[in-house]
Amino acid sequence: MKMHKETTGPIVNADRIQGRIDKLSTFTDPDKPWSRIAFGENHRKARAWLTEEMRSLGMAVEIDAGGNLIGRLPGVSGNLPPLASGSHSDTVPDGGRFDGAAGVIVALEAISTLRDAGQRLRHPFEVIDFLAEEPNKYELSCIGSRAMAGELTDAQLSHRAADGTTLAEGIALMGGDPHKLGAPIRMKGEIKAFLEMHIEQGRVLESAGDDVGVVTAIVGITRMVFEVTGRADHSGTTPMGTRKDAMVGASAMIVGFESRALGEETAMVATVGKLQVLPNASNVVPGQVRFTLEIRSSSAEQLQRFAVWAQWHAGSIASERGLDLVCKVVGKSEPIEMDPAVQVAICDAAASHKFKYRSMPSGAGHDAAHVALLAPSGMIFIPCLDGRSHCPEEFASTDQMARGAQTLLDAILILDSNRH
Ligand code: GLV
Ligand code: MN
Ligand code: MN
Repeated sequence: MKMHKETTGPIVNADRIQGRIDKLSTFTDPDKPWSRIAFGENHRKARAWLTEEMRSLGMAVEIDAGGNLIGRLPGVSGNLPPLASGSHSDTVPDGGRFDGAAGVIVALEAISTLRDAGQRLRHPFEVIDFLAEEPNKYELSCIGSRAMAGELTDAQLSHRAADGTTLAEGIALMGGDPHKLGAPIRMKGEIKAFLEMHIEQGRVLESAGDDVGVVTAIVGITRMVFEVTGRADHSGTTPMGTRKDAMVGASAMIVGFESRALGEETAMVATVGKLQVLPNASNVVPGQVRFTLEIRSSSAEQLQRFAVWAQWHAGSIASERGLDLVCKVVGKSEPIEMDPAVQVAICDAAASHKFKYRSMPSGAGHDAAHVALLAPSGMIFIPCLDGRSHCPEEFASTDQMARGAQTLLDAILILDSNRH
């Protein structure tokens, strides 16, 4: 990586970053690269490796009540709150090697680089691998960061996955302590600042030829599960006019979601990416369909309005077609702004290396959106090839990751030098 540096300071090791990314990507379902599904065996093995990496850097390692894996290094000044950085090691099914993983690895790189340079931070420093950032069998994303901020509800903790386990049991399996989750794990002021580096997952930086994105705000997300129940019947002998076809009803609902989202004055997105049909047989009229509607917007008001409309819209289609409908909001995160002082530290860090950077909002959800409820938080985006993400083709080059890691390290040094 070519560095233009006006100030002297430690420089990250690009090969070490790539080596750790390559190692982490070996923890995958071999026939489905790259799948490291939260709560699964590969996820647990990856975390065992991360634990060893943290220990080898002299960090004390713990899993907090929310199942977050945390490596901690003491600072040289007594009694200061920690600086923290990290992301998540789980992936979507058939996902990529960088979404989440890169943010954990560059946080480790910051510590490795400082260690090579014989430099210590004034503040303690934490590397965090948040539990289950991607939506998973418990229908919820960002489980560890929600737990840290005290957002998990009893209903969410007792939600039962198809395998019969509850989210509370899943958290316990990962080393957490769900009994302690009635309150936030960290209180406001307990973390000095949080930084998350992540691939952009879009094309803005790549198209502009920029090295770094400084995130201004993270989109709000609402996920709703719809269960449409009709009547399973023989597909050959049940005349068209007499059917209660749950699939046709669900399809009409979904097409309606798309038209409404397209017609909104302020851009927003609505997606049905998960759908189950019962009994899912070619010669049976579908008796039941269960699908998840996910809506995203930078406006809390627009999200709320769309969610209310979506329930009404689905309800009216269901009653026209004689179908039963149950609809439930399973996860919500509000749109949130990143901390201005952390944004400035990231801009200054990028500028000191003459990296090309721009401020931009995030259309993807991130753990930082939840940590921001308890600590000043910021995000560094790096470009990814063709903006592709949540697919095996997801790619960021060694140099792109190294520039993001360098920006992260220097932003940490700037925040560490602030005298409080
Ligand atoms: C994160 O993966 C998201 O769903 O935006
Ligand atoms: Mn993701
Ligand atoms: Mn992610």
